[in-house]
Amino acid sequence: MNHHQSILVTGGAGFIGANFVQQRLASGKAGKIVVLDALTYAGNRANFDGVEGASDPARFEFVHGDIRDGALCERLLREHEIRTVLHFAAESHVDRSITGPDAFIDTNVVGTHALLKAARAVWLGGSGVDHRFHHVSTDEVYGSLGAHDAPFSESNQYQPNSPYSASKAASDHLVRAYHHTFHLNVTTTNCSNNYGPFQFPEKLIPLMLVNCLHGKALPIYGDGMNVRDWLHVDDHCRGIELTLQMGRVGEVYNIGGENERPNLEIVEHITAAVDAAFAADSSLRTRFPECPAAQSKPCWSLVTYVKDRPGHDRRYAIDPAKARAELGYRPHETFESGLAKTVAWYLANQPWWRAVMDGSYRQWMERNYAARS
Ligand code: NAD
Ligand code: DAU
Repeated sequence: MNHHQSILVTGGAGFIGANFVQQRLASGKAGKIVVLDALTYAGNRANFDGVEGASDPARFEFVHGDIRDGALCERLLREHEIRTVLHFAAESHVDRSITGPDAFIDTNVVGTHALLKAARAVWLGGSGVDHRFHHVSTDEVYGSLGAHDAPFSESNQYQPNSPYSASKAASDHLVRAYHHTFHLNVTTTNCSNNYGPFQFPEKLIPLMLVNCLHGKALPIYGDGMNVRDWLHVDDHCRGIELTLQMGRVGEVYNIGGENERPNLEIVEHITAAVDAAFAADSSLRTRFPECPAAQSKPCWSLVTYVKDRPGHDRRYAIDPAKARAELGYRPHETFESGLAKTVAWYLANQPWWRAVMDGSYRQWMERNYAARS
């Protein structure tokens, strides 16, 4: 095997990173995948359990570590002769950035810089090697759109409004600066809201799903009319692969689903899907007795309006024209097909979401893995 095809995936045990790694292993692409992940509350090593290829040390290695550890990053780049970094690792939840912004600065800003420094030292230190640093970022850096504004293009002004988006904006700027100043070969993708399997149930779609099943209130922030542009995680991962293959160095690509919807509409889809699943499969009534659908009541009855998120951005929407023209990017899933698969996944994978939501189980799981490795 050509070692130079090895890739380093930071944050690979999180939602999008794990989906990316699974997709790549399934594709049978050559080269080893080295995942570097600090296993915060959002990272879960069990996301690779039973995944084809993940138990083959020639194809996959998991490293429990922090991107802020520059010496570790350098060592991994040298040891595995890595020429491609895919940088997913981040604190990613806007609400957490409001209650505790420090971790966002530490990981998203300081951590990204530590990784850039390591890449520069290893790749540009000697005579130079062919390389790529791909940075995974968000549409939130562009701020909030008015109802009639055109969707975000790559030339939109940066106007981050939350500590999360500000920290991601700072990381985007550092990536750009390392290209312009030091000639590091970088690409960046700014993507809209993702959903799909393995998403931590703090984000809108899995939170609403799990709360339906538990018969808990569905908390709608503000008037529920904030708009997001939803994309199935597989389509985001495909966009990243295309950027690696065809993206021009130094360029930014916006990835989105052209699928804008207000939050209330998303919640309507979820509650209707859960109602329909219970109507079709009576075993769900025994598995989830607290769900209103178990008593033939609509899950919509759980909707509860709550205090708005401070600084809540009204609308995000991506114009993916550049990615379409240069990379041939287009989503494969419709919202209906993607949501149906996602609802089915959460219904079938209760042990996964119970485990990630339960701190003590989580600690046990880590000890269990430490004892086995
Ligand atoms: P996530 O919160 O599910 O996962 C983040 C992962 O990073 C976790 O595995 C965590 O353990 C790891 N991590 C955190 N701090 C670390 C550190 N200091 N060192 C090493 N690992 C660390 O996030 P996600 O939703 O999968 O998002 C992945 C990336 O995509 C982020 O950069 C995010 O900003 C971006 N993004 C997310 C979305 C979305 O809708 N979720 C949309 C666009 C862009
Ligand atoms: O746009 C991309 C971004 O999408 C990513 O960069 C972030 O990592 C990701 O978390 C996501 O940010 P949002 O803030 O848009 O996602 P969240 O799922 O937290 O919220 C989506 C919308 O739903 C938002 O308008 C707030 C609202 N909401 C959210 C939660 C958790 C509710 O009304 N109730 C809730 O309980």
